[in-house]
Amino acid sequence: MEIIAAIDQNNGIGKNGDLLAHLSPDLKRLRAMTVGNIIVMGSKTYLSFPRRPLPDRENLVITSHPENFPEIRCFTSLEDFLDYSKTADRPIFVLGGGSVYEQLIGYCDKLHITRILHSFDADTFFPDPDKLEGWKKISEGEIITTEAYPFRYDEYVRI
Ligand SMILES: NC(=O)c1ccc[n+]([C@@H]2O[C@H](COP(=O)([O-])OP(=O)(O)OC[C@H]3O[C@@H](n4cnc5c(N)ncnc54)[C@H](OP(=O)(O)O)[C@@H]3O)[C@@H](O)[C@H]2O)c1
Repeated sequence: MEIIAAIDQNNGIGKNGDLLAHLSPDLKRLRAMTVGNIIVMGSKTYLSFPRRPLPDRENLVITSHPENFPEIRCFTSLEDFLDYSKTADRPIFVLGGGSVYEQLIGYCDKLHITRILHSFDADTFFPDPDKLEGWKKISEGEIITTEAYPFRYDEYVRI
């Protein structure tokens, strides 16, 4: 499993149920990485999508209220999702949010981090990837300045 997350300079990822910034190239990249594959997320992240489920990929949601999401496959516990993940025939990408990143990072072997070079007022955070024990940065992308906020793509793997 691999994590995809966009984090700001303070490792913030969201505020009031929404993203901190909508960076068009980043959203396109997420689409390119996940189409045809499996994505898993918490119910709050799923509900934050303007259009759902995200098309052309298998959407999985972890929630204690599966009755709210009859259109997709839900799991009412982490354990149930992990059992299912063992049978998956395609890559699984963890799309967040904070609580699901925290619960699943221990089962992931790669982090695709979009580092936004700006400090936002956030209420949801990712663990600082540079301080995560057992992980190392294997690439740091060029800074992209075409959007409202500069950002770059970094990758981390387990040591
Ligand atoms: N920057 C990024 O890359 C990024 C990516 C994703 C999200 N975000 C942001 O992060 C924020 C959302 O994160 P969040 O941590 O508040 O919410 P979340 O992880 O998206 O969803 C949390 C919800 O999922 C359900 N859930 C989680 N673990 C569960 C478990 N083990 N068993 C049963 N249900 C479980 C619970 O809801 P139920 O009440 O349904 O049970 C829980 O309240 C938003 O601001 C969003 O925009 C940012």
